Amino acid sequence: MRISVIGTGYVGLITGTGLASKGHTVTCVDIDKEKVEKINKGISPIFEENLDEMLKKAIAKGNFNATLDIKNAIFNTELSFICVGTPSKDDGSADLKYVEAAAKSIGEALKEKDAYHLVIMKSTVIPGTTENVLIPILEKESGKKAGEAFGVCMTPEFLREGRAVEDFLNPDRVIIGQLDSKAGNLAKQVHETKDRPFLRTDLRTAEMIKYSSNAFLATKISFINEIGNICKKIGADTLQVSRGIGMDHRISPHFLRPGIGFGGSCFPKDVKALMHQASDDYDYKPKILNAVMEVNDDQPLRLIELAEKKLGDLNGKTAAILGLAFKAGTDDLRESRAIPIIHKLIEKGVKVQGYDPKAGETAKEEFGDKITYAQNIQEALKDADFCLITTEWPEFKNINFDGMKGKAVFDGRNILENRADVDYEGLCW
Ligand code: NAD
Ligand code: UGA
Repeated sequence: MRISVIGTGYVGLITGTGLASKGHTVTCVDIDKEKVEKINKGISPIFEENLDEMLKKAIAKGNFNATLDIKNAIFNTELSFICVGTPSKDDGSADLKYVEAAAKSIGEALKEKDAYHLVIMKSTVIPGTTENVLIPILEKESGKKAGEAFGVCMTPEFLREGRAVEDFLNPDRVIIGQLDSKAGNLAKQVHETKDRPFLRTDLRTAEMIKYSSNAFLATKISFINEIGNICKKIGADTLQVSRGIGMDHRISPHFLRPGIGFGGSCFPKDVKALMHQASDDYDYKPKILNAVMEVNDDQPLRLIELAEKKLGDLNGKTAAILGLAFKAGTDDLRESRAIPIIHKLIEKGVKVQGYDPKAGETAKEEFGDKITYAQNIQEALKDADFCLITTEWPEFKNINFDGMKGKAVFDGRNILENRADVDYEGLCW
């Protein structure tokens, strides 16, 4: 099939290159000229395992390109995925300005296109957006009717950064929200993946499945963190508790890793957007989701409390911060739990030496010259009074701490094992 993908961030670029690897002919569209040029040269603008190879292969095969020209992309393809960002506004609600702009451009192109075109929403949008925002804009700009001249679907994406290529190519399930069965059948054809269950729903149910999945996973993390905080106080072994409850197949062992909480571009944004929609638009105040966010906001600062308990006033001390990315396997810093930790340390007069295998450059946009950026672990540890581990990079497992001035190491991600050579303390285990 000939497919256009609007927005070439994490989701768009992986969707585009992934579909090209399955033999489709793909045009990726973005408004960012620099991104488009990089992609056409075979350079991925983001770090993601296996993405560079998949991009280079697609370009070499000749069935993939990137462009700024959305009109031509719509004319020359049978269907389009919308993969633009849906960030949070200051009040926690979802900002739909990118979705609205993309919808307007697609609608304008559809006005001049005679053949049937399918528009698939893949961005995470609050329930009702495809029906109440996308379709009205498409109809207004094209002067045509949804379900007749063009079709509409909503197929949420469940990939994880760091495992994005594998997740995209081998999803646990495919959810297809459809306006009608003609649109749904076409969307199913594109998503055809061996042995994977499909669920076909209406549009807002598909949107709600995406929010509920992220909210549930975030809840599991805050749950195990709360249990960990209690375990540490009463002297129970949090890691064994996590293992023990995860052995129950109804609970499952996944997403029960305790630590400084969830970051990233989605869990915090999506939980907040769902809470905002429920309370502001439907007068329902979510209690569980509110608690999930509260635990998550407090969790990173508990690592500093541990350091103060052991070392006293931190003013004038030097901290090595190992890990800036929101999780291992990515250079993405969005909502990283290291951010509130580092800002709080700076506020307390601590000199911060940060290191991350991939996110050092992105971190400069967040912290500027307020911290120093080490090129390797040893440089970050050099003469540090204490060390905080904030991202679960595997290379942090076997660190030589000899270069530190102090011995105190506070682990926020349960990555160090059996270390007798340092004064080790786990966050909530
Ligand atoms: P991103 O910010 O990395 O990328 C969005 C891209 O869209 C940018 O390159 C931007 O320049 C482009 N864009 C904006 N307006 C445009 C327009 N009018 N026309 C063309 N391009 C335009 O976003 P992302 O992380 O890929 O997320 C995209 C959506 O997918 C979000 O709704 C997000 O919640 C959801 N999602 C993200 C992930 C993830 O792991 N990052 C996983 C699942 C779902
Ligand atoms: C998450 C979901 O896992 C994806 O299914 C979803 O598509 C995506 O959000 C999205 O909607 O964007 P992602 O944010 O890339 O993916 O990464 P996760 O692996 O889910 O980790 C999120 C955060 O939770 C990280 O900060 C991680 O360190 C933390 N985490 C994860 C824990 O603290 N404990 C765990 O057990 C698991």
